[in-house]
Amino acid sequence: MANRKLLIINGPNLNLLSVREPGIYGNQSLEEINNAISVYAKGMDINCSFFQSNCEGEIVSALHSVRTDYDGCILNAGAYTHYSYAIYDAIKAIEKPVIEVHLSNVNAREEFRKTSVIAPACVGSISGFGKNSYFLAVNVMKEILK
Ligand code: DQA
Repeated sequence: MANRKLLIINGPNLNLLSVREPGIYGNQSLEEINNAISVYAKGMDINCSFFQSNCEGEIVSALHSVRTDYDGCILNAGAYTHYSYAIYDAIKAIEKPVIEVHLSNVNAREEFRKTSVIAPACVGSISGFGKNSYFLAVNVMKEILK
């Protein structure tokens, strides 16, 4: 299982990690978290690429690139999680494993966060463990891609 390729996609407002509600999302920047994921995954022979956008259509296009260029995807769709049928359709279309992740425990917050319209298209969901949500997803992906 050498050299698996994953795309890690982060959606709206996640570029503001470290300054955005640090009590909920932590003190680390997205770049710091991505660097840590990259090192962690390399230890398992997995190469990670990273993409962040605040625009729904760009996230859809990034998912399309997973179909042709990657083995799987770890997706934190931010608030799009709760209402984007375009992202749901893109995940269904690409026929590659996508794991939904969230830094915060979305089930312990506002009502609207308890609904994920993308979850049924994903192989599974991990939420509530801060940056460890991504590490757990990399671990699971390693097993899925065996
Ligand atoms: C989030 C949870 C979402 O509800 C929220 O809109 C985000 C971040 C998380 O990682 O906890 O932007 O996806």
